[in-house]
Amino acid sequence: TSNEMWGGRFASGPAAIMEAINASIGFDRKLYAQDIRGSLAHSEMLAEQGIISAADQKLVAHGLNTILREIEDGSFVFSTAREDIHMNIEARLAELVGPAAGRLHTARSRNDQVAVDFRLWVKEELQGTAEALKRLLAAFLVRAEEHAATVMPGFTHLQTAQPVTFGHHCMAYVEMFGRDLSRVRDAIERLDESPLGAAALAGTGFPIDRKKTATALGFREPTRNSIDSVSDRDFALEFLSVAAICASHLSRLAEEIVIWSTPQFGFVRLSDSFSTGSSIMPQKKNPDAAELIRAKTGRVNGHLVGLLTVMKGLPLAYSKDMQEDKEAVFDAAEALDLMLAAMTGMVTDMAVNKDAMRKAAGAGYSTATDLADWLVRVLGIPFREAHHVTGRAVALAEERRVGLEKLGLEDLQAIHPGITGDVFSVLSVRNSVKSRSSFGGTAPSEVRRQIRYWKKRIARA
Ligand code: ARG
Repeated sequence: TSNEMWGGRFASGPAAIMEAINASIGFDRKLYAQDIRGSLAHSEMLAEQGIISAADQKLVAHGLNTILREIEDGSFVFSTAREDIHMNIEARLAELVGPAAGRLHTARSRNDQVAVDFRLWVKEELQGTAEALKRLLAAFLVRAEEHAATVMPGFTHLQTAQPVTFGHHCMAYVEMFGRDLSRVRDAIERLDESPLGAAALAGTGFPIDRKKTATALGFREPTRNSIDSVSDRDFALEFLSVAAICASHLSRLAEEIVIWSTPQFGFVRLSDSFSTGSSIMPQKKNPDAAELIRAKTGRVNGHLVGLLTVMKGLPLAYSKDMQEDKEAVFDAAEALDLMLAAMTGMVTDMAVNKDAMRKAAGAGYSTATDLADWLVRVLGIPFREAHHVTGRAVALAEERRVGLEKLGLEDLQAIHPGITGDVFSVLSVRNSVKSRSSFGGTAPSEVRRQIRYWKKRIARA
């Protein structure tokens, strides 16, 4: 039999394989609530504009609310033959309220309908992402405050570089996730326009009021160009871009947690609730959640590249290719929600081993730069020469297998006669960290200033 929506033009129905490749109901049923909201707003506007009767609008609204209940209580029968969520709902509406259902689609098309539904969905997802990011930021601020003065090694090339504080390291992530939060806000700002009423692509001759439906659906304003309205998926691409950047931050942190929680580093111990054991090795405590966060970044990045590739060759306006936008966004959203929640739990729960951090901070000649700086500051020698003198001190310490602070004053004076006993104070990791009080530096006083700044900023975000 031919299609109930466009059967007028068709003598026979689709091949089974056509139905299978064409249908999106398997995934776009997620949009049911947005679709019903869009239809309610559209029907109310049609009635207010005198395009459909108030009686028909009442029937339509009643039917749509019945459908909403049916879907939520699980009694709604989804049909692949009815292709997508829009046609499943409209066909059911016809069963429930008869010919009035057929008037709902006046002055709209599935092209603007799907654009509205999907924008509403992505907007809500972004709002949820913002809340999840705020929870992660709050978790980091607690740890940063607790460890504003906890010394750990800072790394470059994953080689010990200079001592920093764990609080400072935490605040680096606060900067990263804080940027993610502002990207989420920007994305919502740009997305916040209603395409409803663009119809298929050219607008409509019916006297619709697009501002009315935009406001009813919580959008700031209607989109300005009907062609762009139905061919634009920037909001989905922006969601995926924001998600991919955020995921890459989560993944870097996950990688650090994997490293920090090894017995070799021992900087942190994951709580039992965020680690797993081994079925064979009784001693193991594995950072599976961190590993999965690192891994899920792959699929989020993949979805971004996937949708960019779908969109890149499409002529304006709508093409069916665009139906492929949804699974990418749904799957990336599900992954990101999980990643943010799991990371927030791990950051909150993990036990920080201050002793291991401090010990590691002193290893690897981490205060060599402090020695060179002292030579410049106190003896007034050029930094390049100080670098050379310090390099010789490190080589000597390495030869003796001791730390710089364990070299005798005579040893140091043999390298440079101007050195005095005063130098030893700058060789301690605590003093090293305390001295780095430049704006944004790792001194505990600076870290506390950063924390104060972010507490205020998050309260406003
Ligand atoms: N299921 C379609 C999608 O997801 C809805 C729009 C269909 N429009 C059309 N002209 N075939 O994109």
